[in-house]
Amino acid sequence: MTIPANIPARARELREQLNYHNYRYYVLDDPEIPDAEYDRLFRELQALEEQYPALVTPDSPTQRVGAEPLKAFGEVKHVVPMLSLGNAFSGEEVRDFGRRIAEKLGLAEDEIDFTTEPKMDGLAISLLYEAGVLVRGATRGDGVTGEDVTQNVRTIPCVPLRLRAEAQRPLPRVLEVRGEVYMPKAGFEALNERQRAAGEKPFANPRNAAAGSLRQLDPKVTASRPLAMFCYGVGQVEDGQLPDRHSAILAQLKDWGLRVCPEIRTVRGIDACLDYYRDIGERRASLPYEIDGVVYKVDRIDQQEMLGFVSRAPRWAIAHKFPAQEALTRLLAIDIQVGRTGAITPVARLEPVEVGGVTVTNATLHNQDEIARMDLRVGDTVVVYRAGDVIPKVGSVVLLRRPPDAKPFVMPTHCPVCGSDIIRLEGQVIARCSGGLYCPAQRKEAIKHFASRRAMDIEGLGEKLVEQLVDRDLVHDPADLYALTVEQLAGLERMAQKSAENLISALEKSKATSLGRFLFALGIREVGETTAQSLAQHFGDLQPIEEADLETLQSVPDVGPIVANSIYTFFRQAHNLEVIDKLIAAGIHWPKVEVKAAEVLPLAGKVIVLTGSLQSMSRSEAKKRLQALGAKVTGSVSKKTDWVIAGEAAGSKLKKAQELGVEVLDETGLLNLLQQQG
Ligand code: IVH
Repeated sequence: MTIPANIPARARELREQLNYHNYRYYVLDDPEIPDAEYDRLFRELQALEEQYPALVTPDSPTQRVGAEPLKAFGEVKHVVPMLSLGNAFSGEEVRDFGRRIAEKLGLAEDEIDFTTEPKMDGLAISLLYEAGVLVRGATRGDGVTGEDVTQNVRTIPCVPLRLRAEAQRPLPRVLEVRGEVYMPKAGFEALNERQRAAGEKPFANPRNAAAGSLRQLDPKVTASRPLAMFCYGVGQVEDGQLPDRHSAILAQLKDWGLRVCPEIRTVRGIDACLDYYRDIGERRASLPYEIDGVVYKVDRIDQQEMLGFVSRAPRWAIAHKFPAQEALTRLLAIDIQVGRTGAITPVARLEPVEVGGVTVTNATLHNQDEIARMDLRVGDTVVVYRAGDVIPKVGSVVLLRRPPDAKPFVMPTHCPVCGSDIIRLEGQVIARCSGGLYCPAQRKEAIKHFASRRAMDIEGLGEKLVEQLVDRDLVHDPADLYALTVEQLAGLERMAQKSAENLISALEKSKATSLGRFLFALGIREVGETTAQSLAQHFGDLQPIEEADLETLQSVPDVGPIVANSIYTFFRQAHNLEVIDKLIAAGIHWPKVEVKAAEVLPLAGKVIVLTGSLQSMSRSEAKKRLQALGAKVTGSVSKKTDWVIAGEAAGSKLKKAQELGVEVLDETGLLNLLQQQG
């Protein structure tokens, strides 16, 4: 295929721009353009490369994930061995380190410059660049031989596939950069949430997660994991000059486009090193990544060379570790906590133990499956750990120390707070109390939801007020709101006579509502506004909904088995029915809904495909709302499709629609369709 003359230049230009913006974003932490604009440039390059595959270069930003899964990792011999560091666990040991160095250099301690760096809690990595292009990534292994993880490091977004040639200093022909691959705390938490939701084992800590993610034979798996990297040194360098101080080398790496930790400082003398340790120790919990100590390195390279090495570690550097964040203790009991949404969380009661300077007596166990996976039993000795400042967790069980009478955990069948059934819907990890409005643990949230604008819209009934009302036992369930008097309200904190009167009239006003709002206000799990509307529309009144069986419920558009089960269980709890009766007795009413047969719904029989991203709502929200109007929303475009709704950055589906001559609507068109809700 012949490539039009201007195309290769455009592809090159796009690549340069994307590399530049990556550098601004990841290395300088100072993006110049919004993400959406970056995505646009990226897609333009992708489209060009798709059309003219000859244009693809291995260092193109589009080529991060591509390789097929490996059978095994190859071996890599490190030309310059990857060493480890000596450790210091106290200020005294750090002072000894300072004295040894000063003596060897024949200097006073306060004449020596150090770089002070966070000790990243991840895994060491070597990146090899030839003529500025990333040609290999390798793990440390035993320091001499590591594993070839090139395909995987390429997927890490902040690792440049090509270094910046426009930097101040020319690039060496061969440059091996060393650093730490790690998983940011937020990414780690999100990954573990995903693991739990998929019923898979969560990772014990970000270091394990980073190591496990990098050592995947399928680079697509690595690409799906939130990995990042900081560079902290160099290995092999050929045909090129580096500055004569470690701090200047790091600055140079940054200029070449490599990411360096912004917390690194250069200080003079050991006292200043210890100040750095204290300062970063205090800020440790608020850093976005885990560190397990700090590293001090003699800054001048000539001094490093004079000091040399002892066995496998340099004499010119030392790791000053933070106290351990893990400890062993005994599991005394497993209690149940009921969260604000009824979620049942098992909590470990522990024999008090010091972990990283804090006494720990409780730890979350997340859910039943996790207890089963660990085979955790009351009486067991367990490893407790704290990751940063987050809630302590039970990491694992020491099976060798299991006493013969250790007891397995049995999930209760009834809520310990209100006695309602505990239910766990099929396919869900979390068990919940079905008490809803009745369960005191859920009451405050339920009442806030009930009063909220899109539910009963009770003006003036804010969060603080709800808390006071529940705490003072004035309100047990939403129906009690309607029995409140001006006198009772005026006696509350920050409540004047006038506001009390206003609230009473707002309550009065809220009694005239609609069935959809009322259903939504009840706070039935899985029943959002749209589902509540669909139910109202389908059944017309409350009683048939209360009486509907699972099958009937599932015949409502947008109600699947999970939602149906949740509705069904809600109306089988006697307390919920009592509260509803009380609400109706208090005067809540709604006009009867005229039930429209499916064919009469405004979009009945219409087939719609959603693509691209919408500004005013999520795609799933749009889907629900279209379905509530009777439309069928499908995933692929065919001749049967009536409309394709194309949001921003719509891709192949939009193209297909144009090819087939299917009518395409933009977001305004979608909003117009939804207006028909009436
Ligand atoms: S320098 C010869 N700097 O700690 C010096 N290492 O026990 C080699 N690490 O395997 C390492 N943060 O993975 C250095 N700022 C930092 C570091 C760091 C974390 C890790 C590294 C190494 C281990 C040494």
